[in-house]
Amino acid sequence: MALGERTYYLIKFMRLFNSFLFPGLIISGLLCVFLIFVLWSIRVTLQKKKKSVSTYRYKKNQRVIAFFHPYCNAGGGGERVLWCALRALQKKYDEATYVVYTGDKNVTGEQILDEAFRRFNIKLEHPVKFVFLRKRYLVEASLYPHFTLLGQTVGSIFLGWEALRKCVPDIYIDSMGYAFTLPLFKYLGGCKVGCYVHYPTISIDMLSVVRNQNARFNNATFITQNYFLSKVKLIYYYLFALFYGLVGSCSDVVMVNSSWTLNHILSLWKVQNCDIVYPPCDVKTFLDIPLLKEEETPSEVIVVSIGQFRPEKNHSLQIRAFEKLLGKMTPDYSSSLKLILIGGCRNIDDEKRVNELKKLCEDLKVQENVEFQINIPFEEVKYYLSKATIGLHTMWNEHFGIGVVECMAAGTIILAHNSGGPMLDIVIPYEDNITGFLAENEEDYAEKMAYILSLSPEKRLQIRENARQSVSRFSDEEFEVSFLSVIEKLL
Ligand SMILES: *[C@@H]1O[C@H](CO)[C@@H](O)[C@H](O)[C@H]1NC(C)=O
Ligand SMILES: *[C@@H]1O[C@H](CO)[C@@H](O)[C@H](O)[C@H]1NC(C)=O
Ligand SMILES: *[C@@H]1O[C@H](CO)[C@@H](O)[C@H](O)[C@H]1NC(C)=O
Ligand SMILES: *[C@@H]1O[C@H](CO)[C@@H](O)[C@H](O)[C@H]1NC(C)=O
Ligand SMILES: *[C@@H]1O[C@H](CO)[C@@H](O)[C@H](O)[C@H]1NC(C)=O
Repeated sequence: MALGERTYYLIKFMRLFNSFLFPGLIISGLLCVFLIFVLWSIRVTLQKKKKSVSTYRYKKNQRVIAFFHPYCNAGGGGERVLWCALRALQKKYDEATYVVYTGDKNVTGEQILDEAFRRFNIKLEHPVKFVFLRKRYLVEASLYPHFTLLGQTVGSIFLGWEALRKCVPDIYIDSMGYAFTLPLFKYLGGCKVGCYVHYPTISIDMLSVVRNQNARFNNATFITQNYFLSKVKLIYYYLFALFYGLVGSCSDVVMVNSSWTLNHILSLWKVQNCDIVYPPCDVKTFLDIPLLKEEETPSEVIVVSIGQFRPEKNHSLQIRAFEKLLGKMTPDYSSSLKLILIGGCRNIDDEKRVNELKKLCEDLKVQENVEFQINIPFEEVKYYLSKATIGLHTMWNEHFGIGVVECMAAGTIILAHNSGGPMLDIVIPYEDNITGFLAENEEDYAEKMAYILSLSPEKRLQIRENARQSVSRFSDEEFEVSFLSVIEKLL
């Protein structure tokens, strides 16, 4: 009897299901066909537009190369990459038209180029056309207090669509990390696409942090405390990472700015060909400093550190290690040793931090040997670098470390933190000879400094020369060569 009843309900359920299933299938099938038709007709329209002569294409079959860089007037490191890339391309392919999609509204193209010249000393030989986008507000983080990642991503697709509607290029390069625009340009616009990734939108660290229910990436503590919500958040991140990988893998060429980014992109995007193209640093200015052999008995031995007074730079580690170093030396020698902390203070918090550091010096009784140089002009920075024996860097897991490159270019012996970019990319042997030293904790730093000071001036000069030669791989020229050799695959 019980069995019969169950069978009865099962049959009833299946009938009901069946009667919904067929119409459901048919409707979704029709929707799919409709969607494909719409996408296909958009593609055809865009292709027609691509072939026609327009403001961006004076003659038929002229190649249009476009960069997606909504914040191209920001004057940061990412913008330096953009202008150097354009300069390199224009030198080699001068017959193409170059387009930059930007969201800067109240400037003219001319002003943007002037700013690039003023800020980076980069002058483009041939004209660049700017496509001004009106919807940049869609990618601003402030618009999405919750689900920022998702909001900005969907926003970037709309922004990309606006860009594509205004100009259909032949080659599309995303230089700001809006990977979700790539499939748009590739499949609807029929472009060859490439991207230069500074920083992955979602990193494997983030996934593992949420998995460990850490409150760092989600300030709403109730989410981390609630087991269920944190699982939901984890699924959200995993789905996001999945889609990020999908859109990323449709890129024809992928460039990343460091080994750190490379590791993340390789594990998220599952792409085979991904090249490291180091961003161009202005090492030339530092290479101008003459490299002289030190005096045998100098009156002052300088250890210098360059970096903003931010907590993660860990200046207190420098002071503590320096105090240990003084303890290892004879009183005579220690009185000639100087630690000079050069850095910028941006606000009250930084100033407070400087005062705390000064207090620390007093507590450790090293204030006589430590000097603070705050917000000093660039010429003075160069002066101290030219005098210094050791360049000190203590930030843990820095992604790159332009300051480290600058110290090496200026001819100091670098002692950097044994992690992140300094370990992976910068302070690595060059032509089988060392270029500097790495350390991890106070004792380690003090020992390595003592060791560097114990070397003969000749030996130090060898290391300094080698370090200097090695950093040329971060120069503008090197960037141009490697960027062009990757981009060639698209042309
Ligand atoms: C426009 O430029 C002025 C100064 O020239 C600036 O204060 C303002 O914030 C800018 N507006 C936008 C939307 O960028
Ligand atoms: C790569 O870009 C990220 C984000 O701008 C930056 O933090 C990092 O220092 C860059 N790496 C290099 C090698 O410049
Ligand atoms: C996180 O919350 C704390 C207090 O609950 C607050 O002080 C802090 O500013 C918040 N941080 C962010 C990034 O919103
Ligand atoms: C490495 O250093 C040694 C001396 O220590 C030097 O003879 C050699 O030429 C250097 N190698 C290169 C490739 O510069
Ligand atoms: C500074 O370095 C010390 C010693 O390695 C470490 O214990 C501390 O956590 C670091 N502080 C910061 C802010 O990274």
